[in-house]
Amino acid sequence: MGQTGPVGWQRWDVAWQQALYGPDGFYRRSAPAEHFATSAQGLGSSGRVLAQALLTLAERHSLTRIVEVAAGRGELLRELRALRGTQGSSGVADLVGVDIVDRPEDLPSDIEWCHSTGGARLPDELTGLRGTLVVAHEWLDVVPCPVVTREDDGAWRDVLVNADGAERTGPPVDGADLDWLSRHVPGHVGRAEVGLARDAAYADLVSRVEQGVVLVIDYGHRRDARPQEGTLTGYRHGGQVPPVPDGSCDLTAHVAVDSLGADLLCTQREALHDLLGRPTLPPHELSSARPTAYLEQLSRANALATLTRPGGLGDFWWARTLRATGDLG
Ligand SMILES: C[S@@+](CC[C@H](N)C(=O)[O-])C[C@H]1O[C@@H](n2cnc3c(N)ncnc32)[C@H](O)[C@@H]1O
Repeated sequence: MGQTGPVGWQRWDVAWQQALYGPDGFYRRSAPAEHFATSAQGLGSSGRVLAQALLTLAERHSLTRIVEVAAGRGELLRELRALRGTQGSSGVADLVGVDIVDRPEDLPSDIEWCHSTGGARLPDELTGLRGTLVVAHEWLDVVPCPVVTREDDGAWRDVLVNADGAERTGPPVDGADLDWLSRHVPGHVGRAEVGLARDAAYADLVSRVEQGVVLVIDYGHRRDARPQEGTLTGYRHGGQVPPVPDGSCDLTAHVAVDSLGADLLCTQREALHDLLGRPTLPPHELSSARPTAYLEQLSRANALATLTRPGGLGDFWWARTLRATGDLG
């Protein structure tokens, strides 16, 4: 017998954890950038702009270290490293990456690397952090959670899945999962991902910081806009595919961001406008006087516009918690 049914049928969170982080799991074998593009990987100049925003946030709170959880192959950390030298006043001295794979061979030696387990679990050594900005870009969406469906009589039941991705209805939902659904999911929703594991993962991450800021950046929804049929999906080689828990594709679902318990929740658009201002095009005269500077400023303005676009990346959520470090900013 599996955990919740006969051999082959498992609760989605169990199958999902195994498919991504098991011995032969998707993220053990594949770099995220092989299958999908994210801002942190530096689409255009987006990684550079994101790095600028993070350094600005760290400086605002006088933080000297940035720890990136779910660091992929260290793409964003490399941008941070390149930029902290040029962003004059940056006091960020230490950069640390955390992911489930071994340290990438070509990672510059002054970036530390910490090996993690996968999903909601974080490494034991990530603890007692002080003077630190912890950032997790597109981590919580790959923290597995149960998928549930609502019957005609209103009762929630688990959705079970087999290795082919076929689904069937399982036992009634009860306990903490049911409490979470009652609090966070409105009546019009027929299928949902239970966000409890993400809430716990966020709380765990916050508990690792004694003094500093925790920031998670992800796509998600609030109670008033929960998707009617959930958001679980797969990605492989740059395309969206049906979610099949066999290790052949990424499995991801949007995050119920308002249940995380963050101190401050805002869109990426609001956060970046606050930290970096609004995108402005460089003066045209610069194109002949200093063509390289002109192109750099143009590319930065384009990236900032892309990262803040309504209906696109601008709708990403920034959830922040402050630990013993003064006012939110
Ligand atoms: C969607 S990718 C995002 C990668 C990168 N942050 C980006 O935005 O391009 C998710 C990453 O989270 C990592 N991950 C999942 N669970 C983790 C954990 N508990 N600790 C550290 N990394 C984790 C995966 O290995 C994968 O690299």
